Amino acid sequence: MDFIDISEAKDKLEKNGFLDLEVDANLDLFFEIERLKKEKNAVLLAHYYQEPDIQDVADFIGDSLGLAQEAARTKADVIVFAGVHFMAETAKILNPEKKVLLPDLKAGCSLADSAPAPLFKAFRDKHPDHIVISYINCSAEIKALSDIICTSSNAQKIIESLPSEQKIIFAPDKNLGAYLKKKTGRDMLLWNGACIVHEIFSLERITKLKVRHPNAKFIAHPECEAPVLEIADYIGSTTGLLKFTQQDNSKEYIVATETGILHQMQLASPEKTFIPAPPNNSCACNDCPFMKLNTLEKLYLCMEYEQPEIAMDENLLMAARKPIDRMLEISARYGL
Ligand code: 13P
Ligand code: SF4
Repeated sequence: MDFIDISEAKDKLEKNGFLDLEVDANLDLFFEIERLKKEKNAVLLAHYYQEPDIQDVADFIGDSLGLAQEAARTKADVIVFAGVHFMAETAKILNPEKKVLLPDLKAGCSLADSAPAPLFKAFRDKHPDHIVISYINCSAEIKALSDIICTSSNAQKIIESLPSEQKIIFAPDKNLGAYLKKKTGRDMLLWNGACIVHEIFSLERITKLKVRHPNAKFIAHPECEAPVLEIADYIGSTTGLLKFTQQDNSKEYIVATETGILHQMQLASPEKTFIPAPPNNSCACNDCPFMKLNTLEKLYLCMEYEQPEIAMDENLLMAARKPIDRMLEISARYGL
């Protein structure tokens, strides 16, 4: 990589999505990140799908709900978000006065991209008698068009907290929506979005793997397609999957979600074996390409130079906050 000075790197930020500066190969990045956290009173929040080095240096590792709750309660001046854009944006919505940093602004999400706001608004406007529950994996514009936000950890409880006759639109994940329809028996209108990582699992290859590992439990995230979920021994959010492997007494697990979570599973249960569920081709497609845009180097640079930063229009921020606050209130009510 050619050396570029910081002003030039900042100019290119918009195009690159990150600060493209050379990092001295002799730097101990773990030490530097710890130093920067103290110097700037910064908290480092990381999703379970981040690479192991980033998880190891984080102050808090969690699923989407855990991270939103942590962002809502932090006293730090700076929030460094090792995750994807909608997660850092949620942290900013909850902390308009704080600086929120994301190592790579191009860390997006296929699920969030599958719901463009103008199309979604037209859909919502056609069904004025429906309450809109949106999965947190969506843009701030979609949040602003929603009544309540949910995550995979609290979606069922949020749906069940509404009167049984209440009509519901669920967006943007059709797989999670179909799973929740089945679980709750509620008649929900589903938006046609999906996650590229969770849709890639091959039922045929998982079935063959189960034959080769007859004692392994098969566990899956509810963003997976229905036929994959049907053969699962346990379905849950990333935190749910991790807790299950800690509490269950099997020795082997086939895991259908992004591979980053295997790091925490292995740390929590070193004596157990965790096998990533195979995708429907030979690529590493169960690694989220957006989550994996963040690297230790980009994380260090973004903390050092406090760039890239999440910036938001104030009116959008206020409109997107209401349904997130509603989610946090309902979650607290149920002790989630
Ligand atoms: P959770 O963090 O709620 O398990 O969702 C998984 C995911 O795909 C995050 O992008
Ligand atoms: Fe989005 Fe799927 Fe990646 Fe999560 S794993 S950030 S839902 S693309």
